[in-house]
Amino acid sequence: MSLKEKINLNNLPQHVAIIMDGNGRWARKQGQERVFGHQNGVQAVRDVTEAAAELGVQFLTLYAFSTENWNRPKEEVNALMELLIHTIHQERHTLNKNNIRLRVIGDLESLPKNCFREITEAIEETSNNSRLNLVLALSYSSRWELTAAMKQIAREVEAGKINASQISEKTIESHLSSTGIPDPELLIRTSGEFRISNFLLWQIAYAELYFTPKLWPEFGKEDFYEALIAYQQRERRFGMISEQIHKTS
Ligand code: FPP
Repeated sequence: MSLKEKINLNNLPQHVAIIMDGNGRWARKQGQERVFGHQNGVQAVRDVTEAAAELGVQFLTLYAFSTENWNRPKEEVNALMELLIHTIHQERHTLNKNNIRLRVIGDLESLPKNCFREITEAIEETSNNSRLNLVLALSYSSRWELTAAMKQIAREVEAGKINASQISEKTIESHLSSTGIPDPELLIRTSGEFRISNFLLWQIAYAELYFTPKLWPEFGKEDFYEALIAYQQRERRFGMISEQIHKTS
């Protein structure tokens, strides 16, 4: 039985989020510059996107560039932006052909103009696609997102649009960059690091966390299947006890 066949298609996570880590270390291991790792990371993005679409996962969120990544050496930041522009330009056709909708969370306005343009065009061009939502987290961090949400809510309170006493979890959710996207049930991080790194802190409240030592450019479809199988072996209790879960299921 192949790994793919071991996946229960009736118990797939609706949303998988991935912290793609280890590009730089992978490149260094090959005696190459860090950028070589990012370039090879693109193939892993393709493979995992294809695997998610084939299986029927509805949302795949990839942490492609964090707010903190702006602090990397200028050459690396520029190379990452160029790679994004180039990849999105090249893949637009494939996204459409495969009925994949591109979405972005993060501070899009902070991206270089040409990058912003390429991305907004691809978002627009794929907006009617419905098989898989490929969500890129770009210039994203949870603290940025939560701060922006709180500012906006405060403005609405000031303007008398809402009462402070009416603020609920729904109010906060509806002001997040990810509004309209369900919470991920599974979060994967590659490269053997056990950190969340300012990613989807609100949204992963009940996500299952899966860590693998594989570096991102080495991560392929089979690794994605393994993560899904591990997810399906977990018992998700949402704060309840095991007996309650089995009674309600
Ligand atoms: C983390 O590895 C990876 C990134 C910061 C960028 C990820 C970008 C890509 C895979 C390419 C473009 C993506 C898309 C969606 C087209 P790292 O540099 O932190 O590696 P290290 O921890 O080994 O230094």
